[in-house]
Amino acid sequence: MDVIAQLEERAKRTNEAIMSYLEEGENQKLLLAVQHYPSAGGKRLRPVLAEVVAQAVGGAGEKAVPFGAAIELIHNFTLVHDDVMDNDSMRRGRPSVHVLFDEPTAIIAGDALFARAFEVLSEVDVPPHATRRLLKLTAHTVWLIAEGQQEDMDFERIPPTELAISDYERMIWKKTAVLFECAAEGGAIIAGGTEEQIDAMRDYARSLGAGFQIHDDILALLGDEKTTGKPVGNDIRNGKRTLIVLHALQNLAMDDPRRAILLEALGNKDATLEQIRAATQALQDCGSIDYARETARRHADQGKKHLEVLKPSAEKDFLAAVIDYAVNRKI
Ligand code: IPE
Ligand code: IPE
Ligand code: MG
Ligand code: MG
Repeated sequence: MDVIAQLEERAKRTNEAIMSYLEEGENQKLLLAVQHYPSAGGKRLRPVLAEVVAQAVGGAGEKAVPFGAAIELIHNFTLVHDDVMDNDSMRRGRPSVHVLFDEPTAIIAGDALFARAFEVLSEVDVPPHATRRLLKLTAHTVWLIAEGQQEDMDFERIPPTELAISDYERMIWKKTAVLFECAAEGGAIIAGGTEEQIDAMRDYARSLGAGFQIHDDILALLGDEKTTGKPVGNDIRNGKRTLIVLHALQNLAMDDPRRAILLEALGNKDATLEQIRAATQALQDCGSIDYARETARRHADQGKKHLEVLKPSAEKDFLAAVIDYAVNRKI
C-alpha cells in the first residue's frame, strides 16, 4: 500500500477546509503568520486519522473533516510555539514563523490558531452532547500538551542520569501522543462508534503517537534536512533527553570515551558540527539508535492489536499501514 499517496489523496478535503478557516481576519500580518505553516503542507496525519477512524467504525468520513481540520490547526499552533521554545529556524522547509516574522508575532499567531480551532470545533455537525464531549476532549488534550512541552523543557535542565525511560515515555505521551489520541477518539465519537470502539481507537493512537515521536527523535539525528524540512542535530545542542540519549547514558560505562563525546555536545549551544557528528556516531555505535528503532517498532505492533475490534475494511488496513509508516518514514 502506498501510504504517502493515500495520505495526500485523503488530505485534500482537509486542506481546503484548513485554508478556508484561515482567510478571515483584519490584520494582514497576523493572517500571513497563521497561514505560514498550514500552507506549507505537512503530512496531515492527524486529520486523516480522524477521517479514516470515522469510516472504519462505520460512519461518513466527511463529517469528521471540520474536526480533523481543527486538530490540524491545534497541531500547527503547537508547532509555531515549539519552534520558539526549541529555537529551531526551519519547519516544513520554510523559515520558522518567529524567524520570518518575530517572536511576539509567533506567540500571537499560535494563540490565534488555537482560538480558530475552537471556533471550528463548536460547529462540528453532531448532536449537542457529542459537541460538548469533543470540546472537553480537545481542551483537555491541549492542557496535556502544555504539560508535556513544559516537561520537555524542564528535562533539558535535569541531569540526564537522573531521568528514567518512564519519564521520557510520559513526556512524549503528553507532548505528542495525546493529539493523535484526540484525533482518533474524536473521529470515532463523530461516527457514533461504541464505547469499546472509541477506547480501542484511542489506544491504537496512543501507540502510534509513542512510536511516531521516538522515530521523530531518530530523524532529528539521522534524517535529511532537505527531506524532513527541519534542522538536524539541534536536539543534541538543546540537550533533549530523548530515549536514545537516556539509553546511551544508562549503558555506556563511566570510562567509555563515547560517553565523554556525547556529554561534550549534549546541551552545548555552541557545539560544532564536528562535535554533533561525533556525538551522533557515539549514539549509533553504542546501539542506542537500534534500541530506539526496536522500541518504536514494538509500539507499532502493540497499536495494531487494538484494530481487532474493527470489521475488515480498506480503512482498517490503512490504519495498520499508517502505524508502520509512522515508525519508518523519512519525512
Ligand atoms: C511534528 O509533527 C511534531 C511532532 C509531534 C514530532 P509532524 O511530523 O506530524 O509534522 P508535520 O505536520 O508533518 O509537519
Ligand atoms: C513536538 O516536539 C511536540 C509538539 C510540537 C507539541 P518536537 O520539538 O520534538 O518536534 P519537532 O522535531 O520540533 O517537530
Ligand atoms: Mg521542536
Ligand atoms: Mg519541542
